[in-house]
Amino acid sequence: MTGILHENRTPEYWDHQYRQGATWRPVDEREQILFRTHTDPDPVWRAVDIGCGLGEMTQALWWMGMQVQGYDFSKVAVSVARNSAWHTGATFEVHDFDTESNPPEVTPGSLDLVVCRLSLEFLDRERLLADARRWLAPEGIVHITTSVAEKEPATSRHRGLPESVVHDMGRGAFRSRTRYDLDDDGTVTCLVLRGPM
Ligand SMILES: C[S@@+](CC[C@H](N)C(=O)[O-])C[C@H]1O[C@@H](n2cnc3c(N)ncnc32)[C@H](O)[C@@H]1O
Repeated sequence: MTGILHENRTPEYWDHQYRQGATWRPVDEREQILFRTHTDPDPVWRAVDIGCGLGEMTQALWWMGMQVQGYDFSKVAVSVARNSAWHTGATFEVHDFDTESNPPEVTPGSLDLVVCRLSLEFLDRERLLADARRWLAPEGIVHITTSVAEKEPATSRHRGLPESVVHDMGRGAFRSRTRYDLDDDGTVTCLVLRGPM
């Protein structure tokens, strides 16, 4: 049976979005404070931002002191991200985490933080989470930010993960698991999965 590829699973779809000037939820001060509170970042951390888009979160992690690389399969996004981060040490690469083998620089145990901000919804999340567990050091963290599908308006539910998926994600696979919301109504929620098992 031939699988059906939803258009938002292709780099061409995202290139088109970015050429049209698409942007997503800004990484505001409140989000950064909540991120710091729940992850307690250390400046020596090595981090990756998967599906980094225009690289706003990647840059925020760099400003927190981390060595960070953003990856996205949209060449347009990576080009914009590189241009807007030229004055920082954040770096960006084009990479498709669904269809390509993992980037050679991401080796087992080499990372302290894997960030998926508004991107896991569009990725092969089983594969990504299994890979992230291998990439992380023993106390490493996967930080996921996602919309909850049921809380999105009917026309944009495809952007979110169902509540049941968010509820179960990472259980039994990490030593600790914390959830917090970015919005008062819980439309956008975050998971901190620490200590891969
Ligand atoms: C909604 S945007 C979020 C971008 C950014 N993380 C942010 O918070 O602004 C989702 C991003 O995931 C990227 N993406 C989707 N599937 C991908 C894949 N298989 N490999 C790499 N990037 C992917 C898209 O190109 C897009 O930039």
